[in-house]
Amino acid sequence: MTVIRGATTIPCDSAEEIKKAVKELLEQIESRNGLKRDEIVSLVFSSTSDIHSYYPAKAAREAGFASCSLFSAQEPDIDGGLPLCIRAMLFVGKNLAPSHVYLRGARVLRKDLADKINIAIDGPAGSGKSTVAKALARDFNILYLDTGAMYRACALKALEAGVDTEDEAAIVDLMKDVKLDVVYEDGVQKTLLDGRDVSEDIRKPPVSMAASAVSKLPSVRMHMTEKQREIAGRMSCVLDGRDIGTFVLPEADFKFYLTASPRVRAKRRFDELTAKGYQVDPDELLTEIIRRDEQDSTRSLAPLKRADDAVEIDTSDLTAEEVLALVKQKIGEKI
Ligand code: DC
Repeated sequence: MTVIRGATTIPCDSAEEIKKAVKELLEQIESRNGLKRDEIVSLVFSSTSDIHSYYPAKAAREAGFASCSLFSAQEPDIDGGLPLCIRAMLFVGKNLAPSHVYLRGARVLRKDLADKINIAIDGPAGSGKSTVAKALARDFNILYLDTGAMYRACALKALEAGVDTEDEAAIVDLMKDVKLDVVYEDGVQKTLLDGRDVSEDIRKPPVSMAASAVSKLPSVRMHMTEKQREIAGRMSCVLDGRDIGTFVLPEADFKFYLTASPRVRAKRRFDELTAKGYQVDPDELLTEIIRRDEQDSTRSLAPLKRADDAVEIDTSDLTAEEVLALVKQKIGEKI
């Protein structure tokens, strides 16, 4: 006897969605475990208490899983639990190494079992991307990749070497001999230039505008994109940037686009920088944010843009906790 676990989510409580999700889940469990239908002895379902429209067991019978015994039950309400979730347990009459199957929003429940998950969070400077990305990565126990840090490292190198950040040939030349690494220590991303930890230096105010300038250069972009795709191809991660959902990972599982008014974003940057001890002028920061938005969204290759299938969230009047809760809710609801 083998027991196989599975779970999935539905976008809304309707009989049609329940039937579709149950059929998809069972067919996936069957094919990933190489099961014949008559090898399934029993099928037990539980669903969250926000599901009322249909019994998953009935949906299973109608999907052709009729020869085994079927049972559905409702789960208690658990604070913070994934909403609209259906869980399944299959008892199989032979011994095998089971492949458990977690689909749709339920993939976040078992990162250890599910395929790799990539979450793309794009948006302009100060929209709250990195705060939510870090918190998501922590809560889901997956990697956080700050792609802006990679452009910032390239810009820092150019500034230190006195190379014009608009001069593509010179920047390419400079980057040829530079080793840019992104490493993780205790879950925190560190950016290394030739082995030197530049994680703090790349946050200095002059680097922001320079990063935006080098990020316009197609050869720099392609180089960074390749690195980002390589990391995201290997492991589950949350990536924040400008072009993750549109260009780097158009197939990302979950996509978000955060916005906020320029004034709110400039204020956030001001608070962040003054807390680190930098002397900054709030009006200059606002001007810089507007210039950077313009530069990032008008470049020819992979500009700052919302992907058509990204969930847009205006964070102007939301706390970081509210943004995180909203993002998690959308992940849970996603088909
Ligand atoms: O997110 P940030 O402020 O650290 O990014 C610095 C600059 O890098 C930003 O103005 C544009 C560029 N960037 C980009 O073009 N694409 C990304 N995926 C991330 C950052």
